[in-house]
Amino acid sequence: MPMIIAPSILAGDFARLGEEARRCEESGADWLHLDVMDGCFVPNLTFGAPVIAALRPHSKLFFDVHLMLEQPERWLEDYRKAGADGMTLHLETGGAALPESLRRIRTLGAKAALSVRPATPAEAMFPYLDMLDMALVMTVEPGFGGQSFLPEMLPKIKALRGEIARRGLNVRLQVDGGIDERTIPMARAAGADVFVAGSAVFKAADMAAAIDGLRAAAGES
Ligand code: DX5
Ligand code: ZN
Repeated sequence: MPMIIAPSILAGDFARLGEEARRCEESGADWLHLDVMDGCFVPNLTFGAPVIAALRPHSKLFFDVHLMLEQPERWLEDYRKAGADGMTLHLETGGAALPESLRRIRTLGAKAALSVRPATPAEAMFPYLDMLDMALVMTVEPGFGGQSFLPEMLPKIKALRGEIARRGLNVRLQVDGGIDERTIPMARAAGADVFVAGSAVFKAADMAAAIDGLRAAAGES
């Protein structure tokens, strides 16, 4: 499967979200990563379904919606209606509701993904793998952009890639947090194939060159 570069609009200009989404598309991004934070699950508050709905006409990119919120099961329909193509839940929020929520995401016609924070081990994800289109290993503590990549997460990425391969599953493996030209080769070598990058893409003088640079650093031209 070809790798995916997904710029995180969290690092963009919130006063010009439509233009920022367009800039990502014109610069060769594969997906647009949208970080929804509720101020409870993480100590930061960003945007919700109405903002995503407003952005939808500005971009044809796959909307990869990372739901960092408590009780995500309450909002799945709203995010799908707003234009989410994929929705990522956090394993730590889910408990008993998770399998049903993952099924519902697929019933709504979107791709289902599950994420783990740095302290949650790879094995916690194993029981859910056959319900997933994608697994996300957070490579920073969720909540803020611009943090440093945690190299301690590399064995977790490897363990998940190994288990996905062992079971012959078709599950993408995403990394999010601190991804740049220096860290992307390590994440790629460990088995990731979807790369979220906020600062590395938005803070660059030339966004297209930054996206090309990430692909090249990960070994794809
Ligand atoms: C952090 C978010 C990330 C963030 C990544 O909670 O999930 O998507 O935007 O930003 P960078 O690439 O700057 O670490
Ligand atoms: Zn994210």
